[in-house]
Amino acid sequence: MQKIVVQGGVPLRGEVTVSGAKNAVLPILCGALLADGPVEIANVPNLHDVATTARLLRELGASIEHDVDGARFLIDARDARGHVAPYDLVRTMRASVLVLGPLLARHGAAEVSLPGGCAIGSRPVDLHIHAMQALGAEVEVEHGYIKARARRLRGGRIEFPVVSVGATENALMAASLAEGTTVIDNAAREPEIVDLAECLRALGADIEGEGGARIVVRGVERLSGGRHAVVPDRIETGTFLVAAAMTGGRVTATAARADTQQAVLDKLAEAGAKVDVVGDAITVDMDGRRPRAVDLVTEPYPGFPTDMQAQFMALNCIAEGTGVIDERIFENRFMHVNELMRLGADIQIDGHRATVCGVERLSGAPVMATDLRASASLILAGLVAEGETVINRIYHLDRGYEHIERKLSGLGARIQRID
Ligand code: EPZ
Repeated sequence: MQKIVVQGGVPLRGEVTVSGAKNAVLPILCGALLADGPVEIANVPNLHDVATTARLLRELGASIEHDVDGARFLIDARDARGHVAPYDLVRTMRASVLVLGPLLARHGAAEVSLPGGCAIGSRPVDLHIHAMQALGAEVEVEHGYIKARARRLRGGRIEFPVVSVGATENALMAASLAEGTTVIDNAAREPEIVDLAECLRALGADIEGEGGARIVVRGVERLSGGRHAVVPDRIETGTFLVAAAMTGGRVTATAARADTQQAVLDKLAEAGAKVDVVGDAITVDMDGRRPRAVDLVTEPYPGFPTDMQAQFMALNCIAEGTGVIDERIFENRFMHVNELMRLGADIQIDGHRATVCGVERLSGAPVMATDLRASASLILAGLVAEGETVINRIYHLDRGYEHIERKLSGLGARIQRID
């Protein structure tokens, strides 16, 4: 079992290059199933979830080649005939449910294991099913599988009662090959949705309105091959910028997209950081100051992202003052709280609200990662805690961060991975 060991107390300085976005590349890889030509995807991050998705696509019959550092994938799904996403794969990565729309659209049939819950919540998929039914699919759920069939999907009206990133992505992919026009209302507006739409458009899809609450898709007969470069990861970027703010350092994230993370940059400025954007470089300079505590409420994009909640909780732990964090998206996304308290944090939980009173100093200790972003917040806390912090179960981290300890070492952190 690998661990990460951090010695706290070093202000981070320097430049870090951001990788492609996990939450964009996963739907884009699934979307390649729609194409009847080779699809080349650049800026692919080297993540465990990417490897899992590649395995799933191969099981479905697609051929995938990637270059030596894995940053460029060539996917050919022309002869892919499989339509079953098995439990043993889906349970390791919920995002496998994103093959539902492409399989239905391409083969008229899909059997996808119910993903099941995870540490942060029950993670239902009722909205995914609702979207497929709105496009004319017959869907039943039995023996732990979503079983969907449709001779040919037909365009329709999809009105989401709750904003859902994944369900919007499944709807977008399925509608691309449906017969007729689809209108998706109350669509998720995340930059990863925009990136998926741009990739599908490069393959010949007819989509407009992505990034807004209403997306219109005119179905086409077929999608050809094409090329797309994955948008930079706004959550990885935000994680490194919070590390700069917490350690009092100065960090520049390059190959980044500031326009996809304005809410996070505004919060960093509110915490006292000097934030500068020049092209694809975002610099946070704390100039040795201690951050000020911030209040935040997690919301669908363009609101403050739930995937940055744990990282800002770590910042509030050592900030000046008290910050109130309101987690509105997931029902159980405070798993990092108990672990942060082991490092000396002062946090009170009341339902979906956490009140964090900043302390002068955290003290290093062994802690347990529980989910992807919680793991990141424990590393951030370790960067400022006195002495040594050991983070266990770091397989959670590797799902969503590419070589995080190498990137942090490059900024001067005393951090290493040990077996
Ligand atoms: C995506 O998950 C991301 N994952 C999550 O990132 C992210 O936290 C989340 O969007 C919100 O931004 C990927 O993109 C792979 P949702 P997703 O459907 O699509 C409820 C990370 O750390 N809901 O927008 O599963 C759901 O319970 C991960 O990188 C239904 O009720 O999120 C939640 O309360 C964690 N029924 C809310 O909607 C459904 O059918 C938002 O979920 C689907 C969702």
